[in-house]
Amino acid sequence: MVNLDVIEKKALREIKDVSDKEQLEALRIKYLGRKGELTLILRSLKDLSSQEKKTLGSKSNALKEKLQEAIDERFLEFGDEKSAGIDITRPGHKIERGHVHPLTLIEREVRRIFTSLNFSVVEGPELENEFYNFDALNLPEWHPAREAWDTFWIKPKKGDKERLLLRTHTSPVQIRYMETHEPPFQIIVPGRVFRYEATDATHGDNFYQFEGLMVGKNVSLANFKYVITKFFEEFFRGQDIEFRFRPSYFPFVEPGVEVDVRFKGGDWLEMLGAGMIHPHVFESSRYNPREYQGFAFGVGIDRLAMIKYKIPDVRMLYSGDLRFIKQF
Ligand code: PHE
Repeated sequence: MVNLDVIEKKALREIKDVSDKEQLEALRIKYLGRKGELTLILRSLKDLSSQEKKTLGSKSNALKEKLQEAIDERFLEFGDEKSAGIDITRPGHKIERGHVHPLTLIEREVRRIFTSLNFSVVEGPELENEFYNFDALNLPEWHPAREAWDTFWIKPKKGDKERLLLRTHTSPVQIRYMETHEPPFQIIVPGRVFRYEATDATHGDNFYQFEGLMVGKNVSLANFKYVITKFFEEFFRGQDIEFRFRPSYFPFVEPGVEVDVRFKGGDWLEMLGAGMIHPHVFESSRYNPREYQGFAFGVGIDRLAMIKYKIPDVRMLYSGDLRFIKQF
């Protein structure tokens, strides 16, 4: 049976005692070379029982590494980096820096523009209850328009008083904000929303929106037109754009509008839903609808990203594919 401890002691002493790199190289060959002592031991392992192989094998491998390190260290002392396994001419590793996701870039731009228009940025929960997501927005349980928001309901637990869901839009934050603040104010609410629907190139089962809400004593649709036009002109600055305001329906606004944008020579692109806040919504937040009025709007952030960066499929934004993500 070979005694590794004896070899280790002897080898380390000899390595310590060499006085030049030629002697050191001779030692390296003696122990670790093709016919070196340790190499031969490692090679003879194959004739041993599997138990012996295991213990002796890992021990001799550890010793091999230890000797190699001790030898390299001495080579360095003699100024021989190459023999020590260090190639100072080898190019370094490039350390990659992380960067911001395109949706985050868009959201930051939205925040920047609205902050410059004196809006505050507010956030709300992604797990909502039925009251904030629907009832308080003039969408009682029987309301057929609820079907426009395919909803992920949370499985109820015994004793739950309210039904929970993943918010289908950022509009519930309108109510949450108005419950705790007095007009006049103007806010935007960026956030993630969820829809229980099949995904395709233009639909995801979750995506990002931002809500806008401005309430005061004399806030009108004209103010909305000004704000939203300013926003898009800044967001798509440098491009020639036209706007189209179409009548539309959302239970929480009256009148309701949709806004389309068109680039020179292009097709109309539907950008957002909006309108004047419905009196029932003010009542849910305990405001007097005769005292206050305001507008609200909801814009898809994914949509803005797709248009700005010419992304053909929303799913790319959620793929985690670095070939795509690194282009931003
Ligand atoms: N919440 C609506 C949606 O997600 C958008 C909207 C917001 C419409 C505010 C009108 C007013 O579709």
